[in-house]
Amino acid sequence: MHGGAVEHREKPQVLFVFYTYSQQARIITEAMAETFRERGCEVRQARIELTDPRYAERFSRFPLRHPYRDLFRMLAPQLRRATGEIRVPEDFHAGDPDLIVIGSPTWWLTMCMPIRSFLKSDDAGRVLAHKRFGAFVVCRRYWRNNLKTAERLGVAWGGAYAGGTHFAFAGGQVRSLLSLLSYLGKGEDCDRYLGVRIPPTNLQADYPAQARAFANGLADQLFAPEAPGGSPTPAS
Ligand SMILES: Cc1cc2nc3c(=O)[nH]c(=O)nc-3n(C[C@H](O)[C@H](O)[C@H](O)COP(=O)(O)O)c2cc1C
Repeated sequence: MHGGAVEHREKPQVLFVFYTYSQQARIITEAMAETFRERGCEVRQARIELTDPRYAERFSRFPLRHPYRDLFRMLAPQLRRATGEIRVPEDFHAGDPDLIVIGSPTWWLTMCMPIRSFLKSDDAGRVLAHKRFGAFVVCRRYWRNNLKTAERLGVAWGGAYAGGTHFAFAGGQVRSLLSLLSYLGKGEDCDRYLGVRIPPTNLQADYPAQARAFANGLADQLFAPEAPGGSPTPAS
């Protein structure tokens, strides 16, 4: 099968593969999963773990112990597009998905290391080859490079890109950054940081509707008759 409509099974299978540290990608995954279930799909969620001894310890607790130091220590590996050791959960290997959705937080302007590591792994190759896939980015502001990378790496394995979307936080350049730093260091939203009034960080209030609309668009493609040539129409 290559991105065609799913008629041979009672329930199309959807597999989410995501990494999350501060839970925003998990929240979006759950919102989209609910929509797919309402549409009659079977949904599995594979949360990637970062196990690499060089990086894992700092993300093993929330909030971060040293927000500036912990974030800046990821700068060099992110800039060189490094990969690291990850663990893919058992559930990932069960079933034969008709659609894969990649949930990718942005780290230092691009795809976070755990998802890059997954998308470059043989596991990704096995699941994405000749399969339809979509992607979503969660980020403070910077989503474009991350989403493009998801598309490029998935297509490189022979996947058929079905579309992507992104979820960004409130606030302008400076205040959204102050909010995020405050949150990652304190574990809760505050009104002020370094004396500056800051907006709430993380997903904005309209995320459930956006997640539902995106998931519905992908589900429409799953149930649509196959397009001439067999390739899916990209969602917005
Ligand atoms: C190490 C690190 C680097 C980040 N760098 C960026 C960035 O360059 N641009 C951006 O828009 N957001 C950046 N963020 C914010 C995350 O994309 C955002 O907090 C997102 O919600 C994380 O997803 P999660 O909650 O599922 O872990 C960074 C977060 C972390 C932890």
